Amino acid sequence: MSDRPGRRVGVLVSGRGSNLQALLDAVQAGTLDATIAVVISNVPGAPAMDRARAAGVETAVMPHRDWPTREAYDEALAAALLARTVDLVCLAGFMRRLSARFLAAFPGPVLNVHPSLLPAFPGLDAPGQAVAHGAKVAGCTVHLVTAELDAGPIVAQTAVPVASGDTGDTLAARILVEEHRLLPAAVARVLAGGWRVDGRRFVDA
Ligand code: GRF
Repeated sequence: MSDRPGRRVGVLVSGRGSNLQALLDAVQAGTLDATIAVVISNVPGAPAMDRARAAGVETAVMPHRDWPTREAYDEALAAALLARTVDLVCLAGFMRRLSARFLAAFPGPVLNVHPSLLPAFPGLDAPGQAVAHGAKVAGCTVHLVTAELDAGPIVAQTAVPVASGDTGDTLAARILVEEHRLLPAAVARVLAGGWRVDGRRFVDA
């Protein structure tokens, strides 16, 4: 596992952690040249933490209710990441909005994976929203995080067709398979550099 400066990734989780697992597997397989430096959960007992421990990655539990305000929590979160000299933060099922305070305190790129083709269906249960809306194509997006929910510059997307009998759950399961491919590839792309943000577009530099 390489541990070169500029390639240290911090992962924020709240639950199952299958996207974290995809990152751990990609690092292990050598397809993602990065070090997962720390995994932080805002939910004590999140299954994702077992995956991190099994991979020998440092973990930290930071329950948000232990801090008096969102801003105080976000500053503590950024400080915890910076203390581990993290270069890039990846939200992998982190079910909490990050404030402008976090983004001001953490200078590196922050990525999120979302189970829709943004800007369609931001927010909770995006696959269920897509089915209810009658969308014929769904998918997943990795984007740079900004203070606006699920709205930052799009790094990468994969389309997933919606089947006529799909429920939110069956569609989410097929999207998840694509998330597991897309997220490690997008992290590798961002770590490689040679990009810039032009307006709201993520473009080659
Ligand atoms: C994924 O669908 C992700 O897109 C969304 O939350 C889910 C997290 O799943 N933000 P997991 O914890 O990575 O298994």
